[in-house]
Amino acid sequence: MNQKDVVITLDGPAGSGKSSVAKKLAEHLGLLHADSGAMYRTFTLALMQRLGPGETPEDFGNQVKAAAISPESLHVEVKIDADRQSNLISGLDQMDLIRSPEVTARIKYIADRLEFREAVNRLLSKMKGVVADGRDMGSVVFPDAPFKFYLEASVEMRAERRLKELQAKGWNEDIEALRESIRKRDEEDQNRQFGALRRTDDMILIDTTHINLDGVLRRILNSLQIQF
Ligand code: DC
Repeated sequence: MNQKDVVITLDGPAGSGKSSVAKKLAEHLGLLHADSGAMYRTFTLALMQRLGPGETPEDFGNQVKAAAISPESLHVEVKIDADRQSNLISGLDQMDLIRSPEVTARIKYIADRLEFREAVNRLLSKMKGVVADGRDMGSVVFPDAPFKFYLEASVEMRAERRLKELQAKGWNEDIEALRESIRKRDEEDQNRQFGALRRTDDMILIDTTHINLDGVLRRILNSLQIQF
């Protein structure tokens, strides 16, 4: 196997640290980082721009269902280079807009729909030499990946991490509201009909509750030692 063609998958719930770990791991190994959550976020934002955000997330979900817009017609593109992933709508990089709480509250209505799962999986399918993070990377999208990890952490710790991330981007949220949103997202992520969050037997489990980013990275590199 050519090491530069390798695929490493990192799955786990919201706020488990997957994306930060995946980014560092990719840098360390000279691979690219594919953030599949960002792809679902970009399709969600593209639909919000096309249809409006709706009065409530549920209202938005009903509009998405009724409008039956094809993913291709949203002109979503993803470009990944060594530094970062650019998530484009009609050629415009959406930067941090895809991470707003309004987008987060509406993703479910896109991530539950098979046509959008297939669209994201198509964007990912041709990628090689990547660390791919998400919910179904090791179970559905790259079932033959030779290295699969599953990251988890307590709800409390994940809410604290999300708060820090949001604050760094200039958004604020109440910690209890974040805990609630994480619990809700766990329940949605674990129970969707297609691409549900699931740990398969071939994934190495890492609990990140009491380990920092470098600690998690060290554990992953330890497991990969023979190959790298
Ligand atoms: O990793 P994240 O929080 O940015 O992901 C946002 C949402 O996208 C997540 O709650 C569910 C969805 N998602 C998914 O369904 N499958 C993936 N592989 C990645 C994300």
